[in-house]
Amino acid sequence: MSGGILVLDFGGQYKELIARKVRELSVCSEIRPGSVSANEVRRLAPIGIILTGGPNRVYLPEAPKCDPEILSLGIPVLGICYGMQMLCHMLGGEVSQAGTGEYGRVKVTPGAGDPFMALMSHRDAVTRLPDGFHVTARTGACVAACENAARKLYGVQYHPESAHTEGGREFFRKFLYDICEAAGDYRLDDCIDRQTQAIKRTVGQEKVLLALSGGVDSSVCAALLSKAIPGQLICVFVDHGFMRLGEGDEIERIFSKRKLRFIRVNAAARFSGKLKGVTDPETKRRIIGEEFIRVFEEEAAKLGKIPYLAQGTIYPDVVESGGAYGAAIKSHHNVGGLPETLAFYGVIEPLAGLFKDEVRTLGKKLGLPAALVNRQPFPGPGLAIRVMGEATEAKLDVLRHADAILREELDRLRRRPDQYFAVLTGTRSVGVKGDDRTYEPVIALRAVTTGDFMTCEYAPLPHRVLGRISSRITSEIPSISRVVYDITSKPPATVEWE
Ligand code: XMP
Repeated sequence: MSGGILVLDFGGQYKELIARKVRELSVCSEIRPGSVSANEVRRLAPIGIILTGGPNRVYLPEAPKCDPEILSLGIPVLGICYGMQMLCHMLGGEVSQAGTGEYGRVKVTPGAGDPFMALMSHRDAVTRLPDGFHVTARTGACVAACENAARKLYGVQYHPESAHTEGGREFFRKFLYDICEAAGDYRLDDCIDRQTQAIKRTVGQEKVLLALSGGVDSSVCAALLSKAIPGQLICVFVDHGFMRLGEGDEIERIFSKRKLRFIRVNAAARFSGKLKGVTDPETKRRIIGEEFIRVFEEEAAKLGKIPYLAQGTIYPDVVESGGAYGAAIKSHHNVGGLPETLAFYGVIEPLAGLFKDEVRTLGKKLGLPAALVNRQPFPGPGLAIRVMGEATEAKLDVLRHADAILREELDRLRRRPDQYFAVLTGTRSVGVKGDDRTYEPVIALRAVTTGDFMTCEYAPLPHRVLGRISSRITSEIPSISRVVYDITSKPPATVEWE
């Protein structure tokens, strides 16, 4: 990583965000545990070091600290939140509890320049600076920033990596370019090279199995691995029969062309058998999740001993699975659940440090088609949870058709919502087609705008577009005579209906 920034992790929630801010400014960054030795740092030869925040109280004996020698290597060091407290404490300053602490956006007043708002989240504060340091900014309650410029040691109590801090990008730009003298030549391609080397080092000549769902993350993971270890990768795509119109064949077409071994397991009959008579959403999710693992296990066993499992886990997955979000609301199923039940020597997650948009860019660079790379999220249980109640083949066919019409129409828009799909509701309504009375299920259209896919607003689609979709669905699908548009946000609704 020579020429980059080493982010030393002391347990803060924002370490990936810090690494990302650095990458956004065209400087390579790598996260290592806070316990890394000075010798290892010398070997890595970074141009700067960032000490992250963390939940500990630095004056307690068990609090983690960096190797003290790291502070004397002459490499610029920036401590953020706990990182600043640790820096000051280790160099002879004092840290103690500062009243009730500061949480949320707080006004910071620098010695030079205008006050700005910054995100604070701390109870302890630096109450005496080490020799050679001076205060460069304050809040009403604490030292907000300090430095010893001669030794190139800097600290901020606030979080410049947060979007809630004004001027955060400029702050990092100054640290990287004015203090660390970065060359600014990092490109996402470097990530491909670094990951390629790391993957080769880890797996040697051994084989790697990837559960490929056809979603953006596992597809980019497949493309990356097939570049790194072309002859050693086996991708297993379990087609559970709940994919959208033509989707399974499309995934097969794309991946059969690449230099990798691709296995498609057509397990539709098996899955639909398991779901016979099942109407409860959570039971459907659980059955599909379990069956997925069984099919995958069987395929893995047929292939003989494969020591490594690869997954397309990305950083937000790591955050979500660590937090309380989701689990109590609905049990999201994706391949992330596999390693707990399968015996593999190691798990490879080359995208675990990246955000969705970075993964998309990487996918394009690796030559994946734009349509695949820009795919919307698609739930692991697929259309089975978009058919309310029992997901029979006949209902799935109707939904596939309606969904294809909706997507065709919305794909044409210049500004598209972030996610859109159709739902076959469990409600039937009376209609009239020709001279006949009908009594058939209602199709609901869902289109949302969201950045994080954890909350959303319904998309204010033009009425003429909604009208066209409705009229196409009711005229092209004989059994549908009523279409409604879902205008709820999340919360209180969820994105999916089940
Ligand atoms: P909900 O319905 O929980 O959905 O508001 C939030 C986002 O997650 C997607 N989703 C899933 N993704 N496995 C996944 O990988 C799942 O089981 C699953 N369920 C929902 C949903 O499409 C939306 O983008």
